[in-house]
Amino acid sequence: WGRTGHRVTGKIAEQYLTKKAKKAIEKLLNGESLAFVSTYGDEIRSDNTYQKYGPWHYVNFPFDSSYEASEKSEKGDVYVAINTCIAVLRDKTATNEDKAFHLRMLVHFMGDIHQPLHVGLAADKGGNDFQVRWFNEGTNLHTVWDTKMIESYNMSYTELALNADKLSKNDLLAIRKGTVRDWMYESRALCIDVYNNTEIGEKLGYKYMYDYLDIARKQLQKAGIRLAVVLNDIFG
Ligand code: ADE
Ligand code: ZN
Ligand code: ZN
Repeated sequence: WGRTGHRVTGKIAEQYLTKKAKKAIEKLLNGESLAFVSTYGDEIRSDNTYQKYGPWHYVNFPFDSSYEASEKSEKGDVYVAINTCIAVLRDKTATNEDKAFHLRMLVHFMGDIHQPLHVGLAADKGGNDFQVRWFNEGTNLHTVWDTKMIESYNMSYTELALNADKLSKNDLLAIRKGTVRDWMYESRALCIDVYNNTEIGEKLGYKYMYDYLDIARKQLQKAGIRLAVVLNDIFG
C-alpha cells in the first residue's frame, strides 16, 4: 500500500487495542501513533543501510503451488518479516530501541500482507511489470492496488478509517480468527481473482473501482483489526 493505505491500517488498529497494549506501545513509540509509524517501513527504503529490508514487504510464489512447497527467498519475505518482528517484541533480552524498530516495521508489514498484489508472482514483481491504464494514465497493476484506487476515492486516511464497514460481533470474530499464514492465503486468493479478471494493457477506471474498491477497503480494515490482535497478544 501507499501512505494512505498504511495510515488507515494503523488508525483502525488503534481502535481495537487493549488499555494495556496501548500503554506499552505509547511508551515504546514515545507517544507516536500507529498511524504515524505505519509508513516508516517505506521511509527507510531509500536509505542504503536498510536495503536488506526491501524483500520483507512482499512474498512471491506460483499460483499453482503453496508457500511451503515453493522456494523461499534467502533474503526473507513478508511472512518471515512479521514473525521476526513478533519474536523481537516478545524477546525479554531485546533493547527498547530494537523493539521500537520492529514494532514500526510490524505495523507496516501487517498492512502489506493484506495487499493482494504483495502475495504475488515473482515473474512480474507482484504486478509491478503488469502494465495497465488507470483512467487515461499509464501505470501498473501493483500501483493501482497500492495507491490509485484509494487516491481516486478521494478520502483522507481518517475518513477511510472512520467509514470502515460496521461489523457485527460475528463479523469481528471471523476477522480476528486465524493465523498470519491464513491471512497471507486470503490475500493470495484475492490476488488470483485479480489476475483472472485483469488483462495486460487494460484500461481500468470506474468499473474497476466498483469491482475492487470495497475489497481493498475491507483488506485495510482486516489488516487493522488483525494488527491489534497481534499487538494485544504481545503486550497483553
Ligand atoms: N518486488 C518483487 N515482487 C514484489 C511484490 N510482490 N510486491 C512488491 N514488490 C515486489
Ligand atoms: Zn506495494
Ligand atoms: Zn511496504
